[in-house]
Amino acid sequence: MKFNPDLITIAGNWKMNGHKAAAAEIEKLINLINETDANIILFPPFTLISDFVEISKSSYLSIGGQDCHHKDSGAFTSSISASMLRDAGADYVIIGHSEARALHGNDSSNVINKTYNAHENNLVTIICVGEDLSVRSEGKHYDFISKQLENAVARTSNRNNTLIAYEPIWAIGTGDTASIEDIQDMHAHINNTLKDFDMFKKGNPSILYGGSVNPKNAAQILSINNVNGVLVGGSSLDHIEFNEIIKSK
Ligand code: PGA
Repeated sequence: MKFNPDLITIAGNWKMNGHKAAAAEIEKLINLINETDANIILFPPFTLISDFVEISKSSYLSIGGQDCHHKDSGAFTSSISASMLRDAGADYVIIGHSEARALHGNDSSNVINKTYNAHENNLVTIICVGEDLSVRSEGKHYDFISKQLENAVARTSNRNNTLIAYEPIWAIGTGDTASIEDIQDMHAHINNTLKDFDMFKKGNPSILYGGSVNPKNAAQILSINNVNGVLVGGSSLDHIEFNEIIKSK
């Protein structure tokens, strides 16, 4: 389904989980979701993208890749390009996830060039930003996030091809969700920062929260001002849990 920036987005990041047998999980999920009032996206590992695209082709589920290289092709052992994701049938890509930044380096020109390349290949980008605990404890988190946004949002971005995901590193996979106040304050900050970006003159992109979202806390998180959806890791692996999050919107 085409991305609609006016709808809530529920995205599942499978990280390095899932083998071919996981197709059964996707089939069960597709049978449960029959709603058109949300963008529902799964990001399986690269090896499963083509299979999942095939299985989900006439459903409400969209498929994306978890990262892409900033170049189209070349001698970049272990990398996948945006055009390869497009070729496999993906419609979305996650850019700058903190786990990918930690693995492949934090170079900001690299991140923004991934965004350009993804847009050239007609992929909708979910650009991740998030501070670690030391940045937050020094009280520098607002400036840190503003810089990350400047270094990742490309001139080709607009609200139809870009979402931002705020994922505080200390909340990812820890069960330690950010507090309602922390989420509210940072999403307001991101919203205000993006208003000054020329490419969002026609309207701001969706801002997702990510970090230990589960069926118990999803409804409350989704009701916070400026939270337009969630990026879910662990709880997206099980079709029942993920569907509960979808239903809680
Ligand atoms: P988590 O992961 O829900 O397991 O914390 C979120 C993410 O890294 O996108």
